[in-house]
Amino acid sequence: MRTVLFIAFLAIALWAAPYWSIALFQFPFLDSALAAEISNGAKIFNANCSSCHIGGGNILIIEKTLKKQALSKYLKDYDTDSVQAIIHQVQHGKNAMPAFKSKLSEQEILEVAAYVFQKAEQGWQNS
Ligand code: HEC
Repeated sequence: MRTVLFIAFLAIALWAAPYWSIALFQFPFLDSALAAEISNGAKIFNANCSSCHIGGGNILIIEKTLKKQALSKYLKDYDTDSVQAIIHQVQHGKNAMPAFKSKLSEQEILEVAAYVFQKAEQGWQNS
């Protein structure tokens, strides 16, 4: 009986092995790629956006913050395609907000938009 159980256990463990290796090797890699992108986004944000949007706020138009509720209310298409909506605003600017298309690369705009999205989801804690 014990042997049968042991063999069954071994069979399951072996069958699951590929999944374990995916969990162990692939996800940490994805995590660190994403983490790198977001921490780069933080640097870009601090250098280009925080003068007006410190802590996710808006010093020029108080209600148009980068918080989830404000984005959802004021930023076109935020609810359907969040990161793309932020990218669009950063590229083209709006009223008193300057356009960044000629100042930041496409990659940098993507990174800063991913950062803003992540912070909005987290409620701009610790910033
Ligand atoms: C000179 C000040 C200024 C800078 C610098 C600036 N913004 Fe803005 N931002 C604004 C203003 C003003 C608005 C509101 C525009 C409007 O709707 O009239 C705004 C709105 C936004 C919105 C939409 C928020 C909402 O609630 O409508 C996003 C997203 C945004 N900014 C992201 C950024 C990012 C990312 C950067 C840096 C790459 C940046 N901004 C740099 C002034 C600025």
